[in-house]
Amino acid sequence: MNARLVGLAAAVLLSITANAEEPKTVKKGLSAPGYLNATARGLLKRRMERHGKDMLRLVNSVLMLERAEAKRIATEVAEEPRLTRPIAGGEDDLNTSLPERFFVLQDDLRVKAKAVAEVAGKGDDVSLAARTGEMMQVCVSCHSTYLEPAPQPK
Ligand code: HEC
Repeated sequence: MNARLVGLAAAVLLSITANAEEPKTVKKGLSAPGYLNATARGLLKRRMERHGKDMLRLVNSVLMLERAEAKRIATEVAEEPRLTRPIAGGEDDLNTSLPERFFVLQDDLRVKAKAVAEVAGKGDDVSLAARTGEMMQVCVSCHSTYLEPAPQPK
């Protein structure tokens, strides 16, 4: 896949949805609320690597108007098993290391992925792009709070 094309698509999709309600960027570092610990990160790594690939394929299929493929990928993301909120008394549960906001964003991703899958079947490509952008906003929203970005060159 052409990485520049995908980058461009991502920029376009984000700008399309730039007017949508913007999540506030949360200050990074240990002072951030509910900052994830190493256990939680380990739990997430595989799933996130898959999300990364899915999102690039999704953006590409939306761009190329491959609606059936877009629908398939979005459905896959929407239907993947989620990490469950810890139940009372399950303090040893690995998921207790995840804060409530994490589960809220996880649920939101599912809702937005479903919306992409639904609109993909309708032949309205502009709406499909907008819904895809909204889905990606959830990814960024969660990363903005919990992902530790790699060091950036100055
Ligand atoms: C509910 C929170 C949340 C949502 C939603 C979320 N992510 Fe993540 N993602 C994380 C966290 C936390 C990490 C960092 C994990 C770590 O520290 O290794 C991460 C890491 C990643 C990584 C890096 C994986 C690696 O190689 O280590 C990719 C790629 C990624 N996410 C893609 C996505 C995409 C694409 C979406 C949306 C479809 C998404 N994520 C949605 C929380 C989330």
